[in-house]
Parts: sequence; C-alpha cells; structure tokens
Amino acid sequence: MKMLLTGGAGYVGSACLRYLIREGHDPIAFDDLSEGNRDAVPADRLVVGDILDKDALVNAMREHNIEAVMHFAAVASVPESIKDPDLYWKVNVVGTKNVLDAMRETDVDRIVFSSTAATFGFHENMPITEEHEQRPETPYGTTKLADEWMIKEYARAYGIGYAFLRYFNASGADDDGENGEDRRSESHLIPLILYAALGRRDHVKIFGSDWPTRDGTCVRDYIHVEDLAQAHKLCVENIKPGVGRHYCMGNGDGTTVLEVLHAAQDVIGREIPHEFAPPRPGDPATLIATPEKITKELGWKPKYTDIRQIIETAWRWHERYPEGYTSKAAANA
Ligand code: UFG
Repeated sequence: MKMLLTGGAGYVGSACLRYLIREGHDPIAFDDLSEGNRDAVPADRLVVGDILDKDALVNAMREHNIEAVMHFAAVASVPESIKDPDLYWKVNVVGTKNVLDAMRETDVDRIVFSSTAATFGFHENMPITEEHEQRPETPYGTTKLADEWMIKEYARAYGIGYAFLRYFNASGADDDGENGEDRRSESHLIPLILYAALGRRDHVKIFGSDWPTRDGTCVRDYIHVEDLAQAHKLCVENIKPGVGRHYCMGNGDGTTVLEVLHAAQDVIGREIPHEFAPPRPGDPATLIATPEKITKELGWKPKYTDIRQIIETAWRWHERYPEGYTSKAAANA
C-alpha cells in the first residue's frame, strides 16, 4: 500500500517506515526535519515538508498516489507543552487539520494516528484500557485528545477510516543497531541513561523518590518501536472507511525508573552515574496499558516484552553511534 508518513523521519515514524518496507509496503516520509533525521530513511522515500503547509501535503499525496496516511508529526514533550501551549495547539491541532483536509482533497480515506497515554491523565486503577476516561492534564495530552475528536468527526462526516494508537513509552532501537533515538533535545529516560553511560552527560537525574510506587520512582510501560510499527501495519491493513479503532499500546507491564536504571547497568556491565532530583511537573506516578484489545482484534504480538531486551537494542545503537546520526554520517563518509 502507498502510504504517507508525516513525521516519517522521526524516531517512531522512521522505525515504522523501515518496518513497512520490510513488510512489502510502499511508505513515503513527509517530514520537516525539525526533529527527524534525513539519514533515518532512504533518500528516495523522503519529502521535506511541514504539516503547517497544507499545499505541500496535498502535493505529496497527489504525486505519490497515496492511499493511506500515518500521522506521526507532532510536538511531543510534556514539560515543553506546559511552558508553550501555543506551539502545541498550532502544530498538533492545526497541523492535524491540514493533514485531514489534504486527505479530503486527494480522496485519501484511511489514517492511523499517533495518540498518547497523556490523553488519559491521572488514574488510580491500572492497567489503563480503552474504557478508561480520557482527562488529560497537560497541553500535550489535550491537543492530542482534540486531534482524536477532530479525526472522529471528519470520519463520521466524510467517510474516513481511522485507528488511534495511544502509545505508552516508546523505546528501543532497530535490532541491527543501525537506527534509533536521536532528538535535538532529549528528555526521555532510556536515552538519557545511556548518554550518562557514554559520558555525553555527567549523570542522569531521577525525578522524584517519594512516589506511591514499589521503590518510590515512577512506573511506566515501555514498548519497543518495532512492536509499535507492527501495530501500525496491522491497523492500516484493517481500516475500513467510516469505521474507527482505538488501542492502548503498551506491554501490560510496569517498570520503575530505578528498575530501568538497574537493567541498563546490567546490560552495559557498569555503574551509571545518577542523582535524585525533584519530581517533574505533569508526571503521573504510574502508567501501564493493557494491549489485550489489539491482541484479540488484530493478532498483535510483541517481539520485545522484557525491559532488558529493549535496552539491549537501544544500547547497541547508542554505543555504535554515540552522537546518533551525526556519528553515523561520519562513519559512512
Ligand atoms: N525520568 C527521569 N529522569 C529523566 C527523564 C525521565 O527520572 O531524565 C522519568 C520520568 O519522570 C518518568 C519516566 O522517567 O517517570 C519516563 O519518562 P520519559 O520522559 O522517558 O517518558 P514519559 O513517561 O514522560 O512520556 C511518556 C511518553 C509521552 C506521554 C507521557 C505521558 O513519551 O508521549 O508518557 O505522561 F505523553
């Protein structure tokens, strides 16, 4: 299937693009490279463009005879969204509207949308299922929920088929260590732990030691990017016009921040410098998803269910290319 992947040169988008190629699909990345990396996708599969430019989206969809869209492009940092909601409403909501309008103009009637655990906000009872109420607490979460509503309304009125994948903690790298996480400004736990291991940072900060969890640090559900890619493929192949699906994407298992640190130390075989710091605003204590619905409905089966395996793949990438795609370009020059 011919697909346009907005944000297709970013961390999750490019992992999906490479996976879809291996699975016999024909994906094209549409990415402004503000966070994405040119070298994360084959050169002949990249259109450089911004989702705030609707005409550029229309042109890309026409030129490549696109049949379905996977919409990854977004600004996606919880702390940044609290400081700068303007940016989040613009890129995430106006950008998504442009994607939908461009789809209407070019008769593309299928979309898989990257949603997030942040649309659920704070809940006591875990794991989170598709039935939990969505009550986001941060602009990142509210803008992504607004996108879900917009897509649903477009779907109802214009016959678009859709799937929402609400990611929990996307993590890991390609098994061969050739592609992985590399953001302009990193805020995620696993890459920051590995940067501290490599000496790119003095230490990793652990945000909070007094959360109501088994060791006082936050619990998250880490899901490997390739398993997320598999979910995207299953969704796009099963979307029907005018019908919607929505799934929580985690492994069903919670891991504390300290457990992630210890697993990384085990994988690497040495101590990683770390310090405790105050809790980060907007963080829920615990976020765990159950992937039962997508497993039952679409036969999704994760390849990486253990945090150690996930960290091993990430470490292979970071150890081989300590400065990410900059190191990779230098190695291939
Ligand atoms: N953490 C640290 N130190 C760091 C970075 C993170 O202790 O330097 C902690 C965080 O407090 C959190 C856990 O590690 O408890 C994971 O943090 P990440 O930043 O890696 O990921 P988040 O859980 O904040 O983010 C994820 C998704 C977002 C989603 C958010 C919902 O990446 O898309 O959950 O809260 F919005």
